[in-house]
Amino acid sequence: MTVACVILAAGQGTRMKSSLPKVLHKIWGRTMLDYVVAAAKKLAPEKIIVVAGRDMDLLKASLKSQSIESEFQKSGPKKSESMKSAPVSFVLQKEAKGTGHALLCARADLQNFKGDIVVLNGDAPLINPAGIKKFLRLHRTGKNSLSVLSFTTEKPFGYGRILRDKSGSVLSIIEEKDADKARKLICEVNSGVYAIKASALGLLDGIRLNKVKGEYYLTDIVAAAADNNLRPAAYCIGREEEFLGVNTRSELARAAGLMRRNIIGNLTDKGAHFIDCGSVYIGADVIVGKETTIYPNVCIEGRTKIGEGSTVYPNVRILDCKIGKGVVIKDSTVMEGSTVDDRAVVGPFAHIRPGSTIGSDAKVGNFVELKKTVMGKASKASHLSYLGDTSIGRSVNIGAGTITCNYDGILKNRTVIEDGVFVGSDSQLVAPVTVGKGAYIGAGSTITRDVPPGALAVSRTAQKNIDGWAAKKKKSR
Ligand code: UD1
Ligand code: CA
Repeated sequence: MTVACVILAAGQGTRMKSSLPKVLHKIWGRTMLDYVVAAAKKLAPEKIIVVAGRDMDLLKASLKSQSIESEFQKSGPKKSESMKSAPVSFVLQKEAKGTGHALLCARADLQNFKGDIVVLNGDAPLINPAGIKKFLRLHRTGKNSLSVLSFTTEKPFGYGRILRDKSGSVLSIIEEKDADKARKLICEVNSGVYAIKASALGLLDGIRLNKVKGEYYLTDIVAAAADNNLRPAAYCIGREEEFLGVNTRSELARAAGLMRRNIIGNLTDKGAHFIDCGSVYIGADVIVGKETTIYPNVCIEGRTKIGEGSTVYPNVRILDCKIGKGVVIKDSTVMEGSTVDDRAVVGPFAHIRPGSTIGSDAKVGNFVELKKTVMGKASKASHLSYLGDTSIGRSVNIGAGTITCNYDGILKNRTVIEDGVFVGSDSQLVAPVTVGKGAYIGAGSTITRDVPPGALAVSRTAQKNIDGWAAKKKKSR
């Protein structure tokens, strides 16, 4: 039997006190909506429909940028046709008239759909696809028209309470605002995940406006099913940590804490070593290889992938980088959009700007800045350099204080430094310029013309020594 997912994401999120749509708030680099869409995809649905409000275009754009990024950066094997994920479409809920009304807005798009509709809340980023799959199995085995996934919590505040009769049959869901004292004590609550047979969607017509909140509650579909003798089911198989609904910023912080535990836990299970799990920022899409050690105060973001046996020392920030095996990133280094090959050493205090590649066994030392620069295997720039728009071959030595003058005020120009070149300290290479294989640049030179392979280029004035000058100066005083 097929599945279609509907993600409710049109709520105004007033409780967040933010101009950003609630489901676009980020947790460890991904929006809440991204997490929910990713979980929905794991159910292999025929389609995914996101119900969005006035901010639909923002939601669309954010989801698109996420999926383009993941396509672009995916390095694994190509997905086969059959594994292609479901198309995500959007429907507009013009006014946030409640969760029941939100699902109604998706109804037209489900007209020809015959299977089970799984409804998910866009503000529950921690949902675990395995739990939803189990729930769907129970729903099908029970041949139910309507099932609700519930969980128990000691703090049911804010959640809809599951009302059962003495025999345990589900009668309805009572929302916080409508619950009397006794019902507020019920600890079994609605996760916001429902499975509805397509043929039972007509139950939505039975939902009446809730007078307290002026909304059509999807939760009322449960009572509607019970009234129609359709015996709605509630499966209490969830854990609160999986279904935490984020309505406020403090709940966002709580979700982030739980998510951090999941992200770091997954990496740790695969053999990564975090010296202090509590003091690192590790994005949800980051991969850290086994026996790689991450020191405290490290921030690894975006689609960064770090290989095995590497070390990242404190106060490092890495965004969207691909780092090989046995690499050492020393303290206080910033790296973005770059690649570092096996056994290279970077930092301390290095700045690796986007589009750079540091070859295997290469070394980039303190106060060295790279921008769109490729450094070959075993090349070294150990101290105080700016290398921009530069191709550096293998086994090149860049002396301290070397600067590529890549910008002439209008254009950025390239510098090419071929294999085995030795650039003496405090040199400037005025681009466009090429230094041929095995050439030497004398320290303190300003190189404005190409240097042939094997040549020595020196462009400083010859040194003059004046004997006895100091003594003469003293006398003249
Ligand atoms: C809802 C449930 C509650 C459940 C809880 C689980 C209702 C009435 N209540 O409460 O029983 O325990 O989720 O987290 O359903 N949305 C729309 N359009 C709207 C209103 C909301 O798309 O008009 C979306 C929101 O963006 C959100 C989701 O539906 O993603 C849930 O809405 P929210 O207002 O957060 O409901 P809760 O009060 O948390
Ligand atoms: Ca909510």
